Amino acid sequence: MSKDKYTVTAALPYANGPLHLGHVAGVYLPSDIFVRFLRMNNHDVAFICGSDEHGAAITLRAKKEGISPQAIVDKYNGIISKAFEDFDISFDIFHRTSSELHHETAQEFFQVLEEKGHFTKETSQQYYDEEFDQFLADRYITGTCPNCKKPNAYGDQCESCGSALSPTDLIDPKSTLSGKTPVMKETSHWYLPMQNHEKWLTEWIKEGKLDGVQQHDPKAWRNQVVGQCMSWIDNGLRPRAMTRDLDWGVKVPVDGGDGKVLYVWLDAPIGYISATKQWAQDKEKDWKDYWTGDRKLVHFIGKDNIVFHAIIFPILLKAHEGLVLPDNVPAYEFLNLEGDKFSTSRNWAVWLHEYIEAHPDKIDELKYVLTAIAPETKDSEFTWKEFQTRVNSELADNLGNFVNRVTVLTQKYYDGLVPEPGEFTTLDQSIIDQMAEFPTKISELIYQYKLRDAQAEVMNLTRLGNKYLAETEPWKMVKDPANEERVRTIMYIAMQITAKLSIVLQPFLPATAKKISKALNFVTTDWSHAEEFALIPAGHPTTKAPILFPKIEDSLVEAEIEKLNASKVVETTFDPQKEDISFDEFLKMDIRLGTILEAEKVKKADKLLKLLVDTGLDKRTIVSGIAKHYSPEEVVGKTVSVLMNLPPRKIMGVESNGMILMAEDEQGELSFISPEKDFKAGGGIR
Ligand code: MF3
Ligand code: ZN
Repeated sequence: MSKDKYTVTAALPYANGPLHLGHVAGVYLPSDIFVRFLRMNNHDVAFICGSDEHGAAITLRAKKEGISPQAIVDKYNGIISKAFEDFDISFDIFHRTSSELHHETAQEFFQVLEEKGHFTKETSQQYYDEEFDQFLADRYITGTCPNCKKPNAYGDQCESCGSALSPTDLIDPKSTLSGKTPVMKETSHWYLPMQNHEKWLTEWIKEGKLDGVQQHDPKAWRNQVVGQCMSWIDNGLRPRAMTRDLDWGVKVPVDGGDGKVLYVWLDAPIGYISATKQWAQDKEKDWKDYWTGDRKLVHFIGKDNIVFHAIIFPILLKAHEGLVLPDNVPAYEFLNLEGDKFSTSRNWAVWLHEYIEAHPDKIDELKYVLTAIAPETKDSEFTWKEFQTRVNSELADNLGNFVNRVTVLTQKYYDGLVPEPGEFTTLDQSIIDQMAEFPTKISELIYQYKLRDAQAEVMNLTRLGNKYLAETEPWKMVKDPANEERVRTIMYIAMQITAKLSIVLQPFLPATAKKISKALNFVTTDWSHAEEFALIPAGHPTTKAPILFPKIEDSLVEAEIEKLNASKVVETTFDPQKEDISFDEFLKMDIRLGTILEAEKVKKADKLLKLLVDTGLDKRTIVSGIAKHYSPEEVVGKTVSVLMNLPPRKIMGVESNGMILMAEDEQGELSFISPEKDFKAGGGIR
C-alpha cells in the first residue's frame, strides 16, 4: 500500500510581535508532532511555515513602535524564527511574505483568478479617516461586534466570537488611527463573490465531496470547524473585497490597481505556496508535486483562522484550478494563562523566546505540558503550578524514573549488557501483549489529530513499565541467587519497554527520546520498528541514562508568577502616540512660564476662566477651559506653562492670546504644569 503524501502547513504568524505559549500549544507544537510522526512513517511530507508580514497588524504595530513596517517585520521575523529553531520545531522551510518570490506568486495567483473572471470590480462608499487620509478596513477600524456585542471588534473580524465582519457591520465604528468616527468616501475594489460558491462548499464541508467525488472523510474534521463553516454558509456568504487602499503589501498587478494592495488574507495563505516554491527550489524538487494530485493538504490553525482556511482559501484554490483543497483543517481553541486570556497589549503572556532563555534545558518539559493541556476541543489553561505538578509527577516520577531504574539496574547487575531472558511467565506474556498494542493505538490517535490522547498513551506505556517493576521488584529478588534467571527476564523485558519508548516518544519529546536512545545505544527513526517486541538483543551494551527531568522547584513557579504580575500592563484609555513631527516643527512652538495675575469667570460659560497672565514679555489675556477644576481665587499667583505663539482667537466674546498648557489624568482631572523650583515668569520651556 502506498503511503499518503502530505503537505502540512502551520498558520503563518504575524511578524508583529513575539510568539507566546498560546500560539505554540494551538498550532506549532501539534503540527510539529504530527509531521515528525509522518516522517517516521515514511510519508512524503513537506512542513511549511513563515512570517505573515503584510496587513494592518504590521503597519499599526510599526506606527506604535515608531519604526517602518519593514523594520518591524525584520525584527519580529528574527525573534520568531529563532524561537522556532531553539524550540526545535522542524519546519522544512520558514519563509517570509515580504520576499520577492512571494510577491510574484501572489500577483500571479491574483491574475489567474482575474483572467478567469472570478472577481467582480465594484465601486462603493467606504469608511475613511480624513485626518490620516486613509481608507479604513480590517484592523484600521474597530467597533462593537454586531453578533456578540463585545467592543473592540475589527473591521474584518471579531476576535471574541470569531465571526467575519465588514467595516460597515460594526456598531459605533471608530478609526484606529485617529480614534474618530470616520466619514464615507468612494473607492473601487476587486471582490470575491463568495455567495456563488455556497453550493459546492456545503457539499464539500458536509460530505467531503467535490463534484460528487469523495475527497476527504468529513467525520475526520473537528466539530467546531464544520460548525463554524456551516453557520457562516447558512447565514449566506457575501462578496468580500480582495484588495485594499494601502501601500504596504503586494501591489495589485492589474490595470486600475495603482495605490492598492492585495487583502492580507488573500496574500498570506498563498504564502504557503510561495514558501513551498522556495523550499522546492532549494531542494531541487518541483513545488507542484506538493500542491496537486493525491496530496493531503493539512492546515494547522487557531480557531480565529477557520473561515479563512476552510472557506475563503478553498474557494481561491478551486477557482485557480488544478490545486488540491485541504484534507483537514485541525483548528485549535484558545489557551488561557493563569485565569486570564493571553494578551499582548496587557503583556499577559509567557513569551516563547523568554521561556527558552530562562529554561534552555527544559524544552521537552514545556512541550510535554503544552500537549497535555492542548486546547484541542475546548479552551484550556496554562498555569505554572500545573506545569510543575505535571513535570514532577508525570515526567520525573513516571517516565524519568522508569528509564533511570532500568538503565541503572542493568548497569549494576550486568555491566550494562542486556541480559539473556529465561522463560516468560503469564505475567510477562501479558505485559508483552499489552506493550504490543501501544504503537497502533498511538498512531491511530495521531492520524485523528488527537495528540493529547496520543501523548497520554505514551505515558501509559511508561506506567505499564513502572507497574511491572513494582510488581516484580527485581531489586529485591536479586538478593536470592535462586532468582537469577527470573531477574534477567524481568530486566530484559523492561529494557524492551525502554527501547519502545525511545521510538514512540520521538514525535512528542524528541530531545528526551534522543537521550534514551543514546543511553541504550539504540537508534531507529522508523515508527514501524516500535511494533516489534525484541528491539535490543541480549548482550547489547547500554549505559546509564542521565536524569531526564530534574524536579521543578517551588521557587521557579513563584518567580515566574511574580514576573508575570510585575510586567502586566494595566490598560489605560490614554490616546495613542501622535504622528512624528520634525525637530524644526517642535522648535517653532514658543512655550514659557507665565504667572497668573488676575482671574475671573467668563459669563455664560461655566468651563472658562479669563486670566491676566504676566509672561515676562507682556501682560496678556488668555481664556482657559479650567473653570470646572480651579476657582478664580486659587489660580491667582500660580506660575504655569503658556503656549505663546498661537494666533489670537475670540472665545465667548473675549480675545485670547495663547493657551495655558494642562496635564490631564485618566479620569480627565486637570492640573497646571508648574516649575518644581521657584522660577519667575518669562523662562522658556523646551
Ligand atoms: N497571521 C495570521 C494570524 O496570526 C495567520 C495567517 S495564516 C495564513 O492569525 F494562511 F494566512 F497564512
Ligand atoms: Zn463578536
